[in-house]
Amino acid sequence: MEVCQVLHMNGGRGEKSYAQNSSIQRKVISMTKPIAKEAITNLYRNTFPASLAIADLGCSSGPNTLFAVSELVKAVDEVRRKLGHQSPEYQVLLNDLPGKDFNAIFKSLAGFHEDMRKQMGDGFGPCFFTGVPGSFHGRLFQRKSLHFVYSSYSLMWLSQVPEGLEDNKGSICMVGTSPPSVVKAYYRQFQTDFSLFLKCRSEELVAGGPHDDEVHQSEAFKDGGYNVAKSLRAVAEPMLR
Ligand SMILES: C[S@@+](CC[C@H](N)C(=O)[O-])C[C@H]1O[C@@H](n2cnc3c(N)ncnc32)[C@H](O)[C@@H]1O
Repeated sequence: MEVCQVLHMNGGRGEKSYAQNSSIQRKVISMTKPIAKEAITNLYRNTFPASLAIADLGCSSGPNTLFAVSELVKAVDEVRRKLGHQSPEYQVLLNDLPGKDFNAIFKSLAGFHEDMRKQMGDGFGPCFFTGVPGSFHGRLFQRKSLHFVYSSYSLMWLSQVPEGLEDNKGSICMVGTSPPSVVKAYYRQFQTDFSLFLKCRSEELVAGGPHDDEVHQSEAFKDGGYNVAKSLRAVAEPMLR
């Protein structure tokens, strides 16, 4: 059976749910907020779309899902107010693997809309939500339908267990004591997965934004994502100790 058909975070709001056990991920969303904010406000300033389609890939279910989305729409709203523009309509596309508890998110949407109305006033939105079950290692959206793609703490998930892990004695993942062959096997799998991810997103993104060619041109990805993988590991490891 495919990994993506069985894997999912624990749903609901119980003691063992992702919702109650995702404070590290929330911290990462906060730490990376300036980067996401700069990217989405640049996009808005350069294109002024009347309707803005934002996708959160690997959104999971819990407070982090709507926290990340609310930070993005608040950033755009701040700019459009300063410029005296009418609010764009937001289309928020929430993606995760099919086993995820999408209902838990849908149930919390009323609270999200209420909070946004209180914080942003009547001129904001509207904000329409859609759940998109499926793997981000394949196409998820129509061609040229997205303005902004966001993903936090999810892209290190691989599409399958890499081949060639026989020498990884006593460990079920890559650790400091893993031999180089194991590190290479994970790297190769990440490279394959991430290249496919970028190819799919490049087809789904609306052309003409300020970072139109970024997925092809960014220096960070010229080595197939090796440095991105190393950075992800460098950020995540100290927090997991
Ligand atoms: C650690 S959680 C992060 C969730 C959320 N973004 C956050 O910051 O709290 C990683 C999420 O990625 C999802 N995921 C893993 N592989 C995926 C794939 N191939 N396609 C879509 N979602 C995936 C998992 O189901 C999980 O919900």
